[in-house]
Amino acid sequence: MTGKHTLMLIKPNAVKNGYAHEIFLMVHNNGFKILAQKKLQLSEREAQAFYRVHAGKPFFQGLVEFMTSGPIYAAVLEKENAVTEWRTLMGATDPAKAAEGTVRKKYAESVQHNAVHGSDSDENALNEIFFFFSAREIVNAGGDIYQLHDILKNEQ
Ligand code: CMP
Repeated sequence: MTGKHTLMLIKPNAVKNGYAHEIFLMVHNNGFKILAQKKLQLSEREAQAFYRVHAGKPFFQGLVEFMTSGPIYAAVLEKENAVTEWRTLMGATDPAKAAEGTVRKKYAESVQHNAVHGSDSDENALNEIFFFFSAREIVNAGGDIYQLHDILKNEQ
């Protein structure tokens, strides 16, 4: 899957504010296939494990608390050069520095409450995808499973 896939998370603030379906639409309209997606709430241990590269940083505990504070969406995105393409569409980590038209410019509130996550390399993309999804879920998807109706239904 290397090169064509990345992991997207829609973070608790964006889900809580009702932006998830608009973010999925932006992703879809920018030429990504949504190969698999699920809504879930991370446990403290899972959030610590997912963000383990940041363990020990001053913002780590706050990041874990925030990421476990409510439901998130995890999704496998497919496009040529997916990691870079999704990072470009996301915008800078700090929304104050995010370019016009990016997801974070529109929906992020702060560096911590920055609406979305994206893998930062092909290697991390594979690890992060398999953190959230089993191989069967991805293989069985087999193509675009863009299901706005289901997403909207789950938001009710
Ligand atoms: P994300 O792309 O999910 O990867 C790591 C996250 O840590 C990042 O988005 C931010 O939400 C958070 N983060 C990074 N730097 C800081 C910071 N200086 N203060 C608070 N949170 C941060």
